[in-house]
Amino acid sequence: MMTIIDLLADAAARGARYLETLPKRSVAPAPPAIDALRVFYQPLPERPTDPAAVLQQLDNAGSPATVATAGGRYFGFVIGGSLPAALAANVLAAAWDQNAGLVIASPATAAIEATALRWLLEALSLPASCAAGFVTGATMANFTCLAAARHSLLNRAEWDVEAHGLFGAPAITVVVGDEVHVSALKALSLLGLGRDRVIRVPTDAQGRMRAELVPPLDERTILCLQAGNVNTGAFDPIAELVDRARAARAWVHIDGAFGLWAAAAPARAALIAGVERADSWALDAHKWLNVPYDSGVAICRDEEALRSAMAVRAAYLVQGVEREPSAYTPELSRRARGVEVWAALASLGRSGLAELIERNCRMATRFAAGLRDAGYEILNDVVLNQVLVSFGDDEATRRVVAGVQEDGTCWCGGTVWHGRAAMRISVSSWATTDDDVELSIAAMLRVASETNAAR
Ligand SMILES: Cc1ncc(COP(=O)(O)O)c(C=O)c1O
Repeated sequence: MMTIIDLLADAAARGARYLETLPKRSVAPAPPAIDALRVFYQPLPERPTDPAAVLQQLDNAGSPATVATAGGRYFGFVIGGSLPAALAANVLAAAWDQNAGLVIASPATAAIEATALRWLLEALSLPASCAAGFVTGATMANFTCLAAARHSLLNRAEWDVEAHGLFGAPAITVVVGDEVHVSALKALSLLGLGRDRVIRVPTDAQGRMRAELVPPLDERTILCLQAGNVNTGAFDPIAELVDRARAARAWVHIDGAFGLWAAAAPARAALIAGVERADSWALDAHKWLNVPYDSGVAICRDEEALRSAMAVRAAYLVQGVEREPSAYTPELSRRARGVEVWAALASLGRSGLAELIERNCRMATRFAAGLRDAGYEILNDVVLNQVLVSFGDDEATRRVVAGVQEDGTCWCGGTVWHGRAAMRISVSSWATTDDDVELSIAAMLRVASETNAAR
């Protein structure tokens, strides 16, 4: 049996070899690799297995069947890679195996997380007094922020929603854009605020809320804005709406899963103007900060509202005088995801973060230019890292998307934008190089012309 030291060295070596293979392999796993996953469809072993053999089995059958999202040519969804420092921190933190919920259970991760939060607020130019919880992703960040909003609005009406729920509570109005992300609607449904009782404000050609159609707001209203439409990357008119909402004492929540990172890049300042005047912000770190899955942040201006919605008390849960991480999250026990956020920010610094965001945006612009110059239509204004491209009619576009995925040079997903099929390109990884972009454009053009020729 290997020692734990040898086993961890073996795991690290296998991980490193895996990363080395990514530039040379198909981004989507090859069909034989998927077939080989059959080895996992086995009954629970009766007897123990040597840990080294367990690892070997995972690597032999699992690694080839992964999608190469950690490589430089994955442009699906909005995924992001893992920065070297963040990945290495993840490995170390796994060895620590800390329960990051309580200071007394993990002073180290509580201190690191508190610094990660301070740095995040600074990098994004959000008020330093904001509170935040480190959650699994933007879905839970939306949930956590909206729970704080629900608390705050009902508390003003002298209704204790945590104690009594929503039965008999004063009504809350929720206003969203027609292009609201499904995760915000899911959060509303989980909170008893209902996904279908929202007021949906029509959006423009880029998916931005039309400010002139926003209904009158009041102190019992949550206005959900978006920084970064999942298809186009567009931003709602935040500056205009946030002031109107604040004057009405409405709560402004911003779903900025990936788009909020624009606040770290000075050249994108115009998009994000006014964002710091909102009440809460949902942010993903596993997207554009490029930390390993899973990692999101729920940021809230009113610390008391967030704590009231999230904190619990029990005699055995010792409360210190410092920030108790679990007072800001739905979870009690959880992994120390703040460690990777800290490591990513420590390794990038302010300038490195700005450069990463800006570089990916520049690459998105290059994709758009390369495809447009070849005669294909770009369906969105490329203001951030998202590109929507049509290769002709819907059928032709769908065939090209399938062909690009099968070709394996890169990976892009499909979507429907304003009734038209489109290929979505999201540039969100530190690992993407200019060569990756050129190789991918060439592959897309090759597939598009072969697909058209084969019609
Ligand atoms: C705008 C927006 N909000 C929320 C989410 C959900 O994020 P997660 O998958 O991390 O829960 C996404 C994911 O793409 C998104 O783009």
